[in-house]
Amino acid sequence: MLEQLPALLLPWYDREKRILPWRADREPYHVWVSEIMLQQTRVEAVRGYYRRFLEALPTLEALAACEDDRLNKLWEGLGYYSRARNLKRAANVLLQEHGGQFPTDFAALQTLPGIGAYTAGAICSICFEQPTPAVDGNVLRVWARLTGSEQDVTQARTKRAAFEALAAVYPPGRCGDFTQALMELGATVCLPNGAPQCARCPVRAVCRACEGERWRTLPVRAEKKPRRHEQRTVLILTFEDACAVRRRPDEGLLAGLWELPNVPGALTAQQALALAEQWNCRPMELTRSSRKQHIFTHIQWDMTGYYIRCAAAAPQLEWADAARMAREISLPTAFRQFLMDGA
Ligand code: ADE
Repeated sequence: MLEQLPALLLPWYDREKRILPWRADREPYHVWVSEIMLQQTRVEAVRGYYRRFLEALPTLEALAACEDDRLNKLWEGLGYYSRARNLKRAANVLLQEHGGQFPTDFAALQTLPGIGAYTAGAICSICFEQPTPAVDGNVLRVWARLTGSEQDVTQARTKRAAFEALAAVYPPGRCGDFTQALMELGATVCLPNGAPQCARCPVRAVCRACEGERWRTLPVRAEKKPRRHEQRTVLILTFEDACAVRRRPDEGLLAGLWELPNVPGALTAQQALALAEQWNCRPMELTRSSRKQHIFTHIQWDMTGYYIRCAAAAPQLEWADAARMAREISLPTAFRQFLMDGA
């Protein structure tokens, strides 16, 4: 039944595909950067980042030589910053060990930092016309519904089954378009959370989930472990027109990025003022507080922020004004949200 997919899907894709910046060419460097950005991130959020990134770093050489701070600044707000670190690492490996060319082999690509089966599948099919599906959450959902598979899609074995089944029906000469057509169907028609638009689906005639609304229970996924919640207190310390920031450690969550000074636990306003005093900031006034949360992969921060005007720019912190903040300081969204309008 999957054999009929290319004939049904490709004409629809040709008609309906969205015009996206990374569909303008099939240059491996461009496709690679876009696919890394698109992991865990919505298309609309990626557009601007993609354009800015390639303007700043138009070649593999430019990426390999980019300073970490500049790279983090280009990635600021996209999250999962290890993706950017791996891009740079892989760029160096490509230059040093592959003469600056992407390997065209599916397995060889996966030896590069940050490139797994998904990204290798996308690059090999889109750039090199190989029958290698790029199986992400969207494509798994499409496959599970089409075939009626009740295998748990969080299992590696299910991903491999989807890869094999789809690879077997790839249309020679249109491998790249087929990869993107599957993604497009998942992103615009075969939507998650009980909202697929079966009435306008080009492959409904061969879909097992269309009958009896089986899409309601497909794909099957094992319950995720609930995220651990962590209370944190964030101090938004200002001195004249500067705000205190500091560098995070080189290891662990948000490694090497900047942060607003913060401590574990939920401090009271009095305790926050005492802490600012202990840090030699000479706190003068606590103007307000605000509660924010931020969701990481395995953890959620429930944060209390205290805005404190200070009379001293204590030297153990960095004090950055708005211009420096915009230019050099890559402050992850978890913290930046305290500085946005209406925070
Ligand atoms: N999501 C992941 N890769 C994509 C692509 N190439 N086009 C649109 N959405 C995507």
